[in-house]
Amino acid sequence: MNIRAILDGPSHATTLAAEHSGARPLGAYPRTRMRRMRGDDWSRRLARETQLSVNDLIWPIFVQDGETAETAVPSMPGVMRYSVTQAVKAVGEAAALGIPAIAVFPVVDPALKTEDGRESANPDNIVCRAVRAIKAAHPQVGIICDAALDPFTSHGQDGLLKDGEVINDETVAALMRQSLVQAQAGCDVIAPSDMMDGRVGAIRDALDGAGLTHVKILSYSAKYASAFYGPFRDAVGSGTALGLKGKQTYQMDPANGDEALRETALDIAEGADMVMVKPGLPYLDVLWRVKEAFKLPTFAYHVSGEYAMLKAAAANGWLDGDKALMESLACFKRAGADGILTYGAIDAAKKLKSGG
Ligand code: PBG
Repeated sequence: MNIRAILDGPSHATTLAAEHSGARPLGAYPRTRMRRMRGDDWSRRLARETQLSVNDLIWPIFVQDGETAETAVPSMPGVMRYSVTQAVKAVGEAAALGIPAIAVFPVVDPALKTEDGRESANPDNIVCRAVRAIKAAHPQVGIICDAALDPFTSHGQDGLLKDGEVINDETVAALMRQSLVQAQAGCDVIAPSDMMDGRVGAIRDALDGAGLTHVKILSYSAKYASAFYGPFRDAVGSGTALGLKGKQTYQMDPANGDEALRETALDIAEGADMVMVKPGLPYLDVLWRVKEAFKLPTFAYHVSGEYAMLKAAAANGWLDGDKALMESLACFKRAGADGILTYGAIDAAKKLKSGG
């Protein structure tokens, strides 16, 4: 197709000839009317290039000890921290809506948090107990578990510290132990979110060595040192200890795009089954590049801060929260996401069920 010719329309000679014959000039502007296809609901539906469905949704949930009432996360309106029993019930709702998978994040009792985050490798920690209960009740729902130490460390960093620095290789060994207990508890997917070097290959080896060859790895391949994780850190209580200290010695610089391709290539070479870009909307260019380059199942994390912004604006009446959520999710699909982790998964699934 010659785009130039379409834009220019028919040649001057053709137009003149049409005028002389008295007919309506063939090339009368605008011959190409982009609005024609937008004119009807049925034609908009036929022409739609991407389609969000419930199959694209992963619902992150927070689980905590005790059987007290679920507790709200003030910076994430509508998001709850569940007991194991409540989590089982909530996942039942997700399953009934057809949501394929959930991601479990622990709210760890501060008394169990240590310098080395050793509770992460306890086969009876809150994550493992939640996974066992959810899997028993809803075996058809995929369960994704993070591999990272931050919910378990007293300092809120994702790894082990030496002289105030997160040390890579010792942290990877801890992540292998954490991944093993989670996989043995029955989770389907290990999702390393820590950004240590070499962790995907090490976790693959640990899983395979334990006969857990069926457990998948969803790597947070391009995870940025982002200010948009603030509300998540409120939810799991990892933000206070972290204070002003950031995670920029292991998470990526938001200014970088090429580096995301190198990170992702390494994770694929180490055996990642799926890859992820995080955060979401401000990083759609990275998502697009990663999907184009590797063609793997590629996920995007619509993170806590993005969710909080939507909810805050909606609560003020500044935008239509439902519409803005559905639009955001559609944009992830357009940018190449095979699926989206979003705290709005239940709302979105309901909306999709009722016809959009
Ligand atoms: C743990 C982890 C974080 C998120 C997912 N896994 C926080 C962080 O890296 O500081 C953020 C999720 C969100 O903001 O919704 N490493």
